[in-house]
Amino acid sequence: MYINPAWRILTIGDGDLSFSHSLLENYRPQSLTATIFDDHSSLSTKYGVTHFQQLQAQGCEVLTSFDVTNNQTWGQLCKHQFDAVFFQFPLLPAFNSIEDFKQQCQNISLNTLHRRLLRRYLLNCFEYFLDNNGAQLAFITSKDVKPYRQWHIEQSLILNSDIHYLGSIKFEIEKFPGYKIRNVDRDKHVKDTQGLTYVFSRRINTELDNKISKPKYLGDNYCSYCRVGPFYTIQDKQNHLTSKKHQKMALFEQQWLNEIDQFEE
Ligand SMILES: C[S@@+](CC[C@H](N)C(=O)[O-])C[C@H]1O[C@@H](n2cnc3c(N)ncnc32)[C@H](O)[C@@H]1O
Repeated sequence: MYINPAWRILTIGDGDLSFSHSLLENYRPQSLTATIFDDHSSLSTKYGVTHFQQLQAQGCEVLTSFDVTNNQTWGQLCKHQFDAVFFQFPLLPAFNSIEDFKQQCQNISLNTLHRRLLRRYLLNCFEYFLDNNGAQLAFITSKDVKPYRQWHIEQSLILNSDIHYLGSIKFEIEKFPGYKIRNVDRDKHVKDTQGLTYVFSRRINTELDNKISKPKYLGDNYCSYCRVGPFYTIQDKQNHLTSKKHQKMALFEQQWLNEIDQFEE
């Protein structure tokens, strides 16, 4: 991950705040504002307040109960004051009960709900948080395994918008000493699996150009949903399109397109 010390950085949904704390200690950005979805008392019960206190002691603003989809929780943060925004390993908050799960997922898949969260995150970054004259960068780091990769982060989130997916870079946790990737609701680490940081901007060229790359599977003759290819024959492609794996992804894509049509047009 490349971090320019001149950046004014905002972090979203930072669990126990260990990512923000490590970022501050190891990269010394011009400014850092950290936010978490939990309220202060949940932070204290789940993870403790050490990182919270250390960030505050070093002059960082730390907001609790911050929901990136709800502008009522943002305070003064919507004034285009940042160069870069980070959302590390996003995941919906845990459901309160089986009934809650059933109700929320009655007509909509978890896949669509996660895409909805991440689309809102990206749209809000560019509409409210990022300085139009700044670096203009929004990052999403996610695990590169199912079900996360089924969110089709590179292409689906920015449909019908002026945001570009610029490329990705391997997320190397060792470059953030002290960072513990947290589960949503337990005092446990997420198992270490490969993470990828996806980079988005309204600009086509940014200072990250030579540090990120676009995967081959977004090119012609691949299936970008399933990340397979290249297809060497028509039959090869046809076999893939009729496979169970592809049909499942195609269904997720269709549900997502319906969601965008229904709620945003
Ligand atoms: C798997 S945890 C990762 C936590 C932390 N980013 C890390 O890397 O350890 C997913 C995080 O996303 C946060 N989150 C989910 N929905 C959110 C929302 N609408 N706004 C802000 N954060 C959210 C959760 O509260 C949770 O802390």
